[in-house]
Amino acid sequence: MDNEQQQPDAVDPRNKLNDLSGREWTYALRSVITTRYPTRGPAAYAHDLRRAHPSPKPPQLMAELVRFFTRRGGHVLDPFAGVGGTLIACSLEGRSAVGVDLSPSYAEIYAAVCARLELAPQPYLVADARHLAALPVVTERPFDLILTDPPYAAMMARAKSGERKKRGQGGATPFTASADDLGNLDYWSFLEALRGVIAGALPLLRPHGYLVLFTKDLQPTAEHHNMLHADIVTAMRTLPGLEYRGYRIWHDQGANLYPFGYPFAFVANQQHQFILIFRYLGHDSISAVPA
Ligand SMILES: C[S@@+](CC[C@H](N)C(=O)[O-])C[C@H]1O[C@@H](n2cnc3c(N)ncnc32)[C@H](O)[C@@H]1O
Repeated sequence: MDNEQQQPDAVDPRNKLNDLSGREWTYALRSVITTRYPTRGPAAYAHDLRRAHPSPKPPQLMAELVRFFTRRGGHVLDPFAGVGGTLIACSLEGRSAVGVDLSPSYAEIYAAVCARLELAPQPYLVADARHLAALPVVTERPFDLILTDPPYAAMMARAKSGERKKRGQGGATPFTASADDLGNLDYWSFLEALRGVIAGALPLLRPHGYLVLFTKDLQPTAEHHNMLHADIVTAMRTLPGLEYRGYRIWHDQGANLYPFGYPFAFVANQQHQFILIFRYLGHDSISAVPA
């Protein structure tokens, strides 16, 4: 093997987005991220505690996104922090973060997870993300990334008829009972509220920083296709300075497959989520961007 082959894949000095080499960058662009994360043992990152939340995000998955959309030392905001998938990922990857969530019990679980994993907790505010401007989330420097997993409209709050009312099998698992919970709003009110949260967060994001947002689609009805991911993109594109850049799919092989519709008609299962990616052009660009 000659010297050239032994050289590690170098990071291009022009790369200001992340610390990835060309090879790592290319791998990080695969359009489908397929995972089956362990739910026990040290690699589960205290899943036994985090599973008290109806939809905790795996820290390893969030870590992959944090590594792509920030450099080491970067600063990340999650306005729907839950039990801390994003915050844990930031701690593991040497980034700082601020989390916001309505629920004091999710904040407590996050604190217990940090204690178990021996991680210093990131700042976590128990508050309504619709009022970010009034919260002490503003630090000396802007955020490099907003990485978040908001409710999927009222998907979790509604038990589906004809299915077992059991957690994970179609039973209702609202995040909270609060009327302020975006997961308790109807579809169109949810979209408006989410647009409001992101509008409040963008001034905290650095120019050319990214917004990365998870979502799932709902079952179609006669009235609407319910492709929530498409409606979120439409809503976000009305925000000045925010540019939609595309999506990736997270295929969660650990998600159950249900016999929906059997034996009568097709009803979609969803073992994947959409990871919607937006870039913020910055405050100065706003006048140059059509509404
Ligand atoms: C899909 S979960 C996020 C899960 C998180 N990624 C994790 O790893 O645990 C959505 C979260 O949004 C929170 N939420 C809903 N409405 C909110 C609001 N108005 N302000 C702040 N948080 C809210 C819920 O309490 C819930 O924890």
